[in-house]
Amino acid sequence: MTEKHPALDLLKPAEESESPRFQIEVRSSASTRERDLEELGNCLRASPPWIPAKFFYDARGSELFEAITELPEYYQTRTEELLLLGVADQVAARSEATELLELGSGAARKTRTLLDAMSRSGLLQRYVPIDVDPVVTRRVAAELLAEYPALEIHAIITDILAPLVALPQGHHRLVIFLGGTIGNLNDDACERFLDGIGEVINTGDHFLLGVDRIKSKARLEAAYNDSAGITADFNLNILEVVNAFAHGDFDQNGFEHVSIYNEAKHRIEMWLRARSPQRVALADLDLELSFETGDSILTEISTKYDKGLIQAKLDHAGFELEDWHTDEESLFGLALARRR
Ligand code: SAH
Ligand code: TRP
Repeated sequence: MTEKHPALDLLKPAEESESPRFQIEVRSSASTRERDLEELGNCLRASPPWIPAKFFYDARGSELFEAITELPEYYQTRTEELLLLGVADQVAARSEATELLELGSGAARKTRTLLDAMSRSGLLQRYVPIDVDPVVTRRVAAELLAEYPALEIHAIITDILAPLVALPQGHHRLVIFLGGTIGNLNDDACERFLDGIGEVINTGDHFLLGVDRIKSKARLEAAYNDSAGITADFNLNILEVVNAFAHGDFDQNGFEHVSIYNEAKHRIEMWLRARSPQRVALADLDLELSFETGDSILTEISTKYDKGLIQAKLDHAGFELEDWHTDEESLFGLALARRR
């Protein structure tokens, strides 16, 4: 199952492959491509059609996401970073972790706060970033190897929604899932995901989860409809990723970005709405789609949580909530849980 994609060699700086402190496992194979094609086809045939969120993150998608995290309207990243700064030493002490395992690690900017605290505690040995995007993951690994001279990095490129198997074993582990990314999973996927983490970690291991909190519709819609239009570019880029993946001919100009807050489901919904009638062919899926003006594709949900809601989900997956941290404006929450 663990097989390296040949194209990835091109991206690999020589120095990095020489570091004895670094390894990367690319868990992709023909069968994953087949599964992804089948999944994409099923999603696009559904009503309403939708596209799995992992298709956002090609190299350009990851770059655009990094730009989103710096937007004035997008409070999540900086709020979470401040919260992390305040609690990192306590989390390091509580977990006594030697190993930091991060799901959906991406640019890993906020991760440094925890790596620093774990270094100060003298226990830090290894960082395990897990993400679908090999480009951003390699770049970050190279930076961290230079910044932390004793750190070992074992990166894994895989779909975090597929069963998480054969993860490196640490003495005490701290698993983190930041950025409110949990909100991007629907109820079923969220339950399977949390159960899966519960299964791969040991009693006493800790889990730190960042969640975006329920708040006013105006504040939320502004965060996902920024005035510079970066979120719109990010959303539309998913069509290019799908085109490249499945030999499709989606026309980006034929669609527009729409984000609305669904108060009943306490979630942002991100759509791509046809501006005019569209016909789209996806050769590798043997699929033709047609859209009337106004027909929409669901590209992302971002569910907002509160302490009680997230505590119930954690409890169900075998975790006990130890701490709940939030900021003065109650924008964002950090839940520290322990595997029972
Ligand atoms: N943790 C970072 C990035 C969040 S963006 C932060 O808090 O800012 C979400 C990240 O999850 C991206 O890096 C994306 O590549 C990754 N991702 C999204 N869906 C994924 C999936 N199904 N499997 C693995 N990684 C995924
Ligand atoms: N985890 C992020 C969130 O839900 C992902 C995100 C932010 C996002 N902005 C986006 C996803 C715009 C799609 C489109 O906030």
